[in-house]
Amino acid sequence: MLSPEENDLLTRVGPGTPMGELMRQYWIPALMSSELPAPEGPPLRLRLLGENLIAFRTISGKVGLLAHACPHRGASLFFGRNEAEGLRCVYHGWKFDVAGRCVDMPTEPADSTYAQKVRARAYPCTERNGIIWTYMGPREVPPPLPDLEPNLLPSEQTRVWTALRECNWLQALDGDLDAAHLGLLHLGSVSPEQVTPGSFDYYTVTDRAPGHKVIDTEYGTMSGTYRLAAADTYYWRIYQFLFPFYALIPPGALGQQALVRAWVPIDDTHTMFWNMSVPPTRLPVEEGRVRINAQPLPGTTGWVEFLPNTTDWLGRWRLKGDASNDYFVDREVQRTVSFTGIGGVHLQDKAVTESMGRIVDRAHEHLGTTDEMIIRTRRRLMRAALDVQAGIAPPAVDNPELYRQRSAGVILPGSADWVEATEKVRQAFASHPEAVPPASRERKRPATLEEFAAADEHMRMVVHTAGRRAFQTRPTDIFIATFPKCGTTWMQQIVHGLRTGGSMDFDDISLVVPFFEMAPLLGSDPDMPQVAEPRAFKTHLRRDVAPKGGRYICVLRDPGDALVSWYHYVNGVLVERDAIAIDDFARGVFLSAPGGPWGRYWDHLRSWWPLHEREEALFVCFEQMKQDLADVVARVARFMGLDADGAFLELVARQASFEYMHQHGRQFDGKPTLRALDTLHERPSGETWVKLRSGRVGDHRHALSAETQEALSATWQREIEATLGFASYDELRAHLASRARR
Ligand code: FES
Repeated sequence: MLSPEENDLLTRVGPGTPMGELMRQYWIPALMSSELPAPEGPPLRLRLLGENLIAFRTISGKVGLLAHACPHRGASLFFGRNEAEGLRCVYHGWKFDVAGRCVDMPTEPADSTYAQKVRARAYPCTERNGIIWTYMGPREVPPPLPDLEPNLLPSEQTRVWTALRECNWLQALDGDLDAAHLGLLHLGSVSPEQVTPGSFDYYTVTDRAPGHKVIDTEYGTMSGTYRLAAADTYYWRIYQFLFPFYALIPPGALGQQALVRAWVPIDDTHTMFWNMSVPPTRLPVEEGRVRINAQPLPGTTGWVEFLPNTTDWLGRWRLKGDASNDYFVDREVQRTVSFTGIGGVHLQDKAVTESMGRIVDRAHEHLGTTDEMIIRTRRRLMRAALDVQAGIAPPAVDNPELYRQRSAGVILPGSADWVEATEKVRQAFASHPEAVPPASRERKRPATLEEFAAADEHMRMVVHTAGRRAFQTRPTDIFIATFPKCGTTWMQQIVHGLRTGGSMDFDDISLVVPFFEMAPLLGSDPDMPQVAEPRAFKTHLRRDVAPKGGRYICVLRDPGDALVSWYHYVNGVLVERDAIAIDDFARGVFLSAPGGPWGRYWDHLRSWWPLHEREEALFVCFEQMKQDLADVVARVARFMGLDADGAFLELVARQASFEYMHQHGRQFDGKPTLRALDTLHERPSGETWVKLRSGRVGDHRHALSAETQEALSATWQREIEATLGFASYDELRAHLASRARR
C-alpha cells in the first residue's frame, strides 16, 4: 500500500518530477533502428518520459532527437524537411542539426548572428544492435551505456521487439517482479500430468505458492522463489530488477536464455515494453509482424499481433488485442484449456496490468507475502529518486559492468545459500548447462496416447485461437478446406500452379500458400499479401471457426485412408516412431472425442457439407484426383475463373502428379511447420519429414484390423448416415460425381 504522494512520486515521469529526473540519469532505449531506416527519411514522432520529440536520420546516418516544437514559434518539426545533416522547419525554414544548433535561418539578414543564439532542445543518440538509445539527462558527457548482454552480442544472435502497454510503467514492471502469478495467470490450468516429471514446469505446477527471498543489490533488487524439488533439492527462480526500469525474469523453464525486459515510460499512462533476448529461438518473431509466445504448455501460446504503426504519438507497436476487444478473451478456452482464455503470456500480462486503470491507486492494495520484491523495489526507486534530488548519483549509472546479469531457473541443494550458489549462473556472456534439470535436457516426442493428447492440447489452443484472430477475408480469397491428410498439399500445388502459371519458385508450398491457422507459428501473418493473386490458404478448421466470406475448395477423402495417412504422418514426427500402434491411434485419437487438434473427421465433414451446392465452394474427392487429375485441375481452373488453355492445364496437372511432386519432395515436406512444432515443444529437430505418400486408395483395408474397420463403419453410420443420409463414403462420392457431371 502506498500513499497518494508516494504513488505520484513513483509514477509521474515528466520533466521536473523526481522519478522522471531519476530516469533521465540513464540511457534510455528510444526506438528501433529499423524505425528510421533511411538517411534523410521521414521524421518520426516519439514521446518519451512525457516529452514530445521528433526523431530523424541524417544523410550521414546519424540520429537526431529534437523537441517537436520549433524554437522559433512552435510549429512541429514533424513536418520538417530532413535535409542532409539537419531538420528544417517548414514554417520559416529554420534548420537544426542533431545537436540542436540552428545552422540556417533564411528569414534573418545574411549578416545576422541570431542563429547562433537559438537552440532546439536536442538529446544525444547512439545505436547498438538495432536499438537507438538516447540520453535525456543533465550531464555534459553522458554515462556509459549499460552492458546488457542481448544488446552487446552480435546482432544475428539476438532478437529485439517492442510493444505498447497502455498503463503506467510501474504497474507493468510490478508484473515482472511478481513471481506468484506465473503458476496462476499463465499456468493455472496446467496439471502435473501435462508436464514432464522432474522438469522446471513440473515443480511450478505442483507448487503454486512458492517461498520467496528478496535482497538489495548494487544495481537494484533480486528475488528468489523456491519450490521443493527432488531428493532434498529446491527449484529456484531468480528475478532481478536493474535501475531504472529493467527486469530480468527466468525465461521459460530452462534458464538458458538471456532475457532483458525494459518498461520505458512514454508518458505517465503509456509504456513501451522492450524485449531483448538471446537466443531468439523461444520467440520466433518477424519485426513488425506476427510474434508468438512459445512455451510448450497449454495456455501459454498465442498471438501477439500488431496493428500497423501510425505517425501518432501513441501509434507505434500497438497490439491488435487490447481493452477495446477484451484482449480476445475466449470463455470456452478459459473453461477448457487455459486459466484466462486469453492467448499467450504477453497478452495475458497486458490484460491484467491494463485492467487496473492507467495509474492504479495503490492506496487500496493489500500486498501479500509474494509481493515482497515489489515492495522492496518501490522503496529502492523512491530512495534513488529522492537521492537524485539531493545530488546523489543513482545506482549503477556509472558502472555498466553491473548490468552483466542473467536470471535463471536452477536446482540447488537444500542447504545451499541461494545468492552465493547462483552467483555463477547469473553471470552473463557464459553458458550454464548445469542450470538445466535432467528432465528438461531431452524432451522427447510423445510415446503414449496420453502424452500425445497432452501435446495436442497445446495445438488445440493454437487452432482454437486461429478462428478468433483478426483477419480480413477478401471475397477472392481461396481456402483449401480439408481435414488433415485428405489431399491438402496436393490441392495447394494445383491452386498455386494455376495462379502463377506453374511457378515452382518456393522453398515450401506452405510458405506461398500459407497454412492459415499455423502461419503465426512460422512467424508469418496470414493477412499479408502473397506472391500471387488470388490469395490462397490451406486450413483444417471446421467451417464454423474458419474465416467467412471467401471461396472454398473442399477436398474429401475416405475416412479410413485419411486415418492411415494421418497415422503415418504422425508416426516418428509427432510421436516417437512406432511407440503407438495404428489401431490404438485409431481408437484413441481418430475415432474418439475430441479427436486431434482440429477435432474429428465427422464433425469437419458435417460442418462443410452444406456448402457443397453453393457457388462459392468446389467439392472434390481425393479419389477423383487419383483417377483423373486433369479433369480436377480443369474444374479448379474454372472455379478460379481462369480461362486456361489445354497446354497450360496440362503443365499444371503434370506438376501436380505424384511423380513430379515426389521428385521435388523437399518443397512439399512441410519442414517449416515441423521445425516450428519442435521449437514449440522444445525438442530436438526431428527426422526427415516425408509428407508425400503414394496415397493409395483403399489403403486402410490392409493397414487396419477388422475391429477398427468395423468401428469406422459404425461411426460413419452414426455420424454421417444419420445426418447426411449417405450409407457410405462411396455413396457420398458418387453423389458429388453426379453433380460434377451436370
Ligand atoms: S516556427 Fe519553425 S521556423 Fe518558424
